[in-house]
Amino acid sequence: MEFNLQDVDAIIDHWGPKPASLLQIMLDINHQYHYLPKESIQRVAQRLSMPVSQVYSVASFFKVFSLKPRGRVIMHVCTGTACHVKGGPRIIERLEQELNLKAGETSEDLFITLETVNCVGACAAAPVVVVGEATHSEMTPSKTSALVKQLKEEEA
Ligand code: FES
Repeated sequence: MEFNLQDVDAIIDHWGPKPASLLQIMLDINHQYHYLPKESIQRVAQRLSMPVSQVYSVASFFKVFSLKPRGRVIMHVCTGTACHVKGGPRIIERLEQELNLKAGETSEDLFITLETVNCVGACAAAPVVVVGEATHSEMTPSKTSALVKQLKEEEA
């Protein structure tokens, strides 16, 4: 979604332009754009009469916020021990090749962000890939390719 000042203002107005609303406002903006655009941080600081540096420090402190654009799909590949032993690295390799990305990067069309994670508590199903709320078990490189294809189709 393109940055739009009116949308950001509507979020600020919804929660009230006061410092106590900062976290809720930032969560909503992050949810809307999948990250916090620079212009939104400036607008929030201006409307809440707070220093821009303070809004940035909150944005950097909480892991839920991203200062870089993120994909509409966030894919986490587990790199914990069980997943590593059962072939996690081959899954990352396949995804990196197929999406032309490195782990930690987002595709230019903002379709997907590829990230790694340390153990999601599903070791019995290793190796696992997590997309949103869904944990995909016993993944292989070909199952991973099929999953990417399915996600692309769902988006089309
Ligand atoms: S190591 Fe991957 S789920 Fe535990």
